[in-house]
Amino acid sequence: MQVSIVGSGYVGTTIAACFADLGHEVVNIDIDEDIVETINSGTPPIHEDGLPELVGKHAGQDGTGRLRATTDYDSIFATDATFLCLPTPQADDGSIDLSVMETGATQLGKTLEATEDWHTVVVKSTVIPGTTEDVITPILEEESEKTAGEHFGVGMNPEFLREGTAVHDFLNPDKIVLGADDDRALADMHDIFEPLVTKSDAPVVEPDTRTAEMIKYANNSFLAAKVSLINDIGNICKEYGIDAYEVADAIGLDDRISEQFLRSGVGWGGSCFGKDVAAISAAAREREYDPAMLRAAVEVNDRQPNRLLSLMDDHVDVSGERVAVLGLAFKPGTDDIRNSRAIPVIEGLQERNADIVAYDPVAAENMRERYPNISYASNPAAVLDGAAAALIVTDWEEITELDAEFDAMTTPVVIDGRRAIDRRDGIVYEGLTW
Ligand code: UGA
Repeated sequence: MQVSIVGSGYVGTTIAACFADLGHEVVNIDIDEDIVETINSGTPPIHEDGLPELVGKHAGQDGTGRLRATTDYDSIFATDATFLCLPTPQADDGSIDLSVMETGATQLGKTLEATEDWHTVVVKSTVIPGTTEDVITPILEEESEKTAGEHFGVGMNPEFLREGTAVHDFLNPDKIVLGADDDRALADMHDIFEPLVTKSDAPVVEPDTRTAEMIKYANNSFLAAKVSLINDIGNICKEYGIDAYEVADAIGLDDRISEQFLRSGVGWGGSCFGKDVAAISAAAREREYDPAMLRAAVEVNDRQPNRLLSLMDDHVDVSGERVAVLGLAFKPGTDDIRNSRAIPVIEGLQERNADIVAYDPVAAENMRERYPNISYASNPAAVLDGAAAALIVTDWEEITELDAEFDAMTTPVVIDGRRAIDRRDGIVYEGLTW
C-alpha cells in the first residue's frame, strides 16, 4: 500500500522504515528540511539499532525507492493512509500539549479538502482517551469540509516500541492495536498491517479509538507501577538484609507476575513512563478521580535516587570530594537522558558540594548541555581514579565489566543502583535493594 507518515522522530522514522521493509511505498513528511535530506540520503536522523540498515536499504540512491521523505503535505494525495507521529510534549500541569498535533491535523485536513479519494488518518502519537474522536477528527472535518466515516476514515494505532530496540519491537510485536470508529478505516489499517501480522503472528486487537488510546496509557502505567512495586519491595528487602533479586527471581516464576520488569534499583526514566503516568493522572484528576496507585508509583520512583545518595552518606562525606557518576542515559543502549535518574543524582551531589565526574559511553554530550559545570571523562577508569565514592546509575556493559578500576579510588565506596557489579573484598559495596 501507499502510506504517509507525518513526523520523523523516534516513532515516525522507525515505522516509516519498517513499513517500507514490509513492502509498502512510504513517504515520510517532516517540516525540518535537514531531516528530510538526511533520510533521502539513506541515513536515519536518529540513533536506533537496525535503522541505518533499513533506511539505507529503502531510501537514498541505492535504496529500493520504497522510502522517501519530503516537507510537502500534498504528497499524501498519492497515498492510501497517513499516520500522525507528532510529539505531544508535557505541559506544566502534567497534561499533554496537543498544539503540534492540532497543527498537523489542520494541515492534513486542508490537504484532504483537495482530494476526492477516500483516505484514512491514523493517530499514532500517545494521546489522552477521546483525543482522536473529540479533537483530531473535528479538526480534520472542519478543515476538509468532509465527514469522517463517509469521506475519510480515522483510526488510532498506539505504539509499544522501546528506545534502542524499536526496530526489533516493531517487527516482533506482542500485540497490534488497531483502534477505529468506522469499518473502512479498520479495513485500511488491516491491509497496512497484514504483512506484519502474517510475519509475526501477533494477535490483533480491534477496539474503538478511545479504548486504543487508553490501552497505551494502561500499558505504560502498568510497567511503571510494576517497576515501582519491585522497588518498594526491594527497599523493604534492603532493610531486612535480603537480596531483592533473589526474591524477584522466585516471584517471576509465577505466570501471573512474569519475570520481566522486576529489576529493582534507581528507578525508571525516559521520555514515556513519567510523561504518560503524569498525563493520564492529570486527566483522571480532571474527572475527579484520584489515581492513588499511579501517584504512589511516581513517589517511589522519585525516592530511589535519594536512597542511593543516602546510602553513600552512610559511608562517606563527599563535600569537596571527587564522586564518580557511572552512567547518564536513562537506560543502556541510548543517548537519551530525558528523565534519567542521573539527573536527581547529580543534583543531590551538587547540594552536597561534591566534585562530580561523570561517564557515559554515548550520553555524556547530552548531559553536558544540561550540566556544563561538572566534569566528564571518556572512560570509566578515569572517573574512578581518585574518587571517594562511585554511584552506578546505568548498567552499560562498559560499567558492568569494571573491577580492578575501583582500586584506584581514594575510598572505594561503590553504591550500585542497577546491580551492575558484584560485591567483593577491597571495596565498600552497597546495592540499592540487595
Ligand atoms: C517504554 C515502554 O517499554 C514501551 O513499550 C513504550 O512504547 C515506550 O515506553 C513509549 O511509550 O514510547 P522505553 O521508555 O524505551 O519504553 O524504556 P523501557 O525499556 O521500558 O525502560 C523504561 C525505564 O524503566 C528505564 O529507565 C529502565 O531502566 C527502567 N526499568 C525497566 C527498570 O528500572 N527495571 C526494570 O525491570 C525494567
